[in-house]
Amino acid sequence: MVKKIDIIEVGPRDGFQNLLKNGEKFCLPTEEKLQIIESLIDAGVKHMQITSFVSPKAIPQLSDAKAICAALVPKYPDLDLFALIPNYRGAQGAAEAGLKKVTNVISLSVSHNKANINRTHDESFDALAKIVNDFPQMEVCLDVATAFGCPFEGKYYDVEPLLAFEQRAYDIGIRTMNLCDTVGMADPKQVREFVTASKMKFPDVRFEVHIHDTRGMGVVNTLAAIETGCVDGVQSTLGGLGGCPFAPGASGNTATEDLVLMLHEMGVETGIDVDKIISAAKAEYKEVEGNYSGANLHVEKRPQPCIY
Ligand code: COA
Ligand code: ZN
Repeated sequence: MVKKIDIIEVGPRDGFQNLLKNGEKFCLPTEEKLQIIESLIDAGVKHMQITSFVSPKAIPQLSDAKAICAALVPKYPDLDLFALIPNYRGAQGAAEAGLKKVTNVISLSVSHNKANINRTHDESFDALAKIVNDFPQMEVCLDVATAFGCPFEGKYYDVEPLLAFEQRAYDIGIRTMNLCDTVGMADPKQVREFVTASKMKFPDVRFEVHIHDTRGMGVVNTLAAIETGCVDGVQSTLGGLGGCPFAPGASGNTATEDLVLMLHEMGVETGIDVDKIISAAKAEYKEVEGNYSGANLHVEKRPQPCIY
């Protein structure tokens, strides 16, 4: 079993991008977002996707991306803070905001790529190549959305299309790839197989996973990925707040505090304080109405050693 793993908090993007109030898309006030982000940093989170540079028409919930970056990027130069981008315009916004890293999202599923960012694979990979070329100062990572299954096309059992997709990104120069179970269709066996095959084909790529908890398999699928030793980081959201506005059926993410507690109990180092992260999740759950999948939100105490 690995001794340590990077926990990458993506709640400020994946969680906040789905908020609704009275059925309408709702942008949580920037100050409230920052308070939650500060509570994550206080708990020891070092890697965080803090927002997304997307069209405010598509995702008004993240229309304060510039303000979020202005508040955090100069204040925390040593933290790994980054944003999601769907296109070239997003890369420009992120660069202007002073970010040193972005993740460009492209879906393995052609139909989901169209629904999510209105592009074909060729168009998306052309844009990715241009981003890599034009922004040499930024690390450009890839989010492989629907890597395990798609709400329109179904679940994937053959890893070859994923490997071919990764090859296209590899040839452009991408060396960090995050395999996303966008709607929570994966199972542990599949995760093990897809992650291992990916790492065996591209040993110099850093792989991560991003698993939604739609069917209660978020933590177990994430653990399956960790146990292969083929991933360096796993993504999760505080409270398991999440979803995807362009993926019908997408539910909350794997909850950061559930993952941290489990890994802590197993002796795997995350650098995150268990009690602080559970408190941060409970505070968010109380303050922000949304779609949460975290189990520890509803548990009073964490396991204590037997005193007899
Ligand atoms: N940031 C801000 N505005 C952007 C933008 C960006 N990154 N990309 C496009 N826009 C604006 C354009 O300026 C244009 O504005 P206008 O209507 O006022 O002229 C409008 O959005 C449409 O631009 P266009 O290039 O024609 O995009 P599109 O309609 O083909 O949609 C996306 C493409 C990527 C902009 C849109 O699908 C999107 O933002 N999707 C969100 C994907 C996402 O974040 N999903 C969840 C995470 S996986
Ligand atoms: Zn997601």
